[in-house]
Amino acid sequence: MSQEVIIRAVFYSRGLNMSSERSTDRWGRSTRSVHGGELGKDCHGAVTTPIFQTSTFFFPTDDPVTWEGKVPEGSYIYSRWGNPTVAAVEAKLALLENAQSAVVFSSGMAAISSTLMALLKKGDRLVSIEDLYGGTFSLMRDELPRLGVDVRTVSTTDLGAMEEEMENGAAAVYLESPTNPLLKLVDLKAVVEMAHSAGAKVMIDSTFATPINQTPIDLGVDIVIHSCTKYLNGHSDLIAGAVAGSKEDMERVSKKRILFGGSLDPMGAFLLMRGMKTLEVRMERHNRNGLLVAKFLEKHEMVERVHYPGLPSHPQHELAERQMRGFGGMVSFEVAGGRHGAEKLLRSVRLIKRATSLGGADSLVSMPLNSSHSSLTPEERERLGIRDSLIRLSVGIEDAQDIIDDLNRGLSQI
Ligand SMILES: Cc1ncc(COP(=O)(O)O)c(C=O)c1O
Repeated sequence: MSQEVIIRAVFYSRGLNMSSERSTDRWGRSTRSVHGGELGKDCHGAVTTPIFQTSTFFFPTDDPVTWEGKVPEGSYIYSRWGNPTVAAVEAKLALLENAQSAVVFSSGMAAISSTLMALLKKGDRLVSIEDLYGGTFSLMRDELPRLGVDVRTVSTTDLGAMEEEMENGAAAVYLESPTNPLLKLVDLKAVVEMAHSAGAKVMIDSTFATPINQTPIDLGVDIVIHSCTKYLNGHSDLIAGAVAGSKEDMERVSKKRILFGGSLDPMGAFLLMRGMKTLEVRMERHNRNGLLVAKFLEKHEMVERVHYPGLPSHPQHELAERQMRGFGGMVSFEVAGGRHGAEKLLRSVRLIKRATSLGGADSLVSMPLNSSHSSLTPEERERLGIRDSLIRLSVGIEDAQDIIDDLNRGLSQI
């Protein structure tokens, strides 16, 4: 590929992304999903953003000897640092999250760990909630303290405890909302107010919500993190992660990506961009199906408890209505008969696939105890309320009645 082709593609990309003639600010969420960040017309007239499947690029000066090692705006040198397909999907995500900038990674965990490494140093205090994805929980419990970070974990819904931990100074607050797997919420506006007056940055893993159901930056949150493996990609065929926030913070995060090497490859970026085009329409269906399934489960005699923020019985339903636009496709529930009952249900479903992960078109079911939260000790799970009878269901985009029929069959076997 000649250097001219790259420069022309970059030129078109700048023309579409940054052009003042096409005010992306006025675009709705679906238009942002479809058009945001796309490179537009490349030199061959391709309608979709090409996959720049290259590890390296020609030096950006005519005479390579005169290059001084700086990468000019809009140029690329080496794909671990940056790549046009990757940059296009970053622009799409930034637009959806109302962020100045975004950085994508080869996994959600690469995004989380690189962001924490970018923001924290030895001796800093990090205030975190106790309900977290299992991998993040292990980072907080085992890795950050080993590096000299003072991690203070508080009950997810206890704003008073959070404030107390921030009183003596904190560098950052780490949140998840809704949480995995119990669908608890954090009052984002309240935490932002407390954290900012204590001088702490607020970061949130917003994977369960997606930018369709909530935009934390609009509520004052500084950094939004996603496992793009889930809803953003939406087809259970990619591992990826992302971080969005201010230009300054994203530059710091991007440096860690370059150093630790968790960069997303161009093919992965293409798959993510393709998945994101339908994000808004998929989320509409996930939201609708999630609510229908939660309502069905709540009435079933073999179900002891349903966790879904869209149900009026959810203890934070009023907060969910205030800070979210939809409640998503994640439903967790406790069945009668303890672990045995949960295993029976898992063995009996036919349409819903027994697998970990979430956010894809296909409904998936798992038990957090031996999947997403297997890295916790039984005592830790018990303390958090992750019971042996807990089932985590990622409600897909199939016909709601077919999902409900399958669950009904499974529950009748308990
Ligand atoms: C809420 C949440 N955050 C982060 C992750 C980690 O993402 P990944 O598996 O893409 O590394 C997961 C994975 O299940 C998750 O559910």
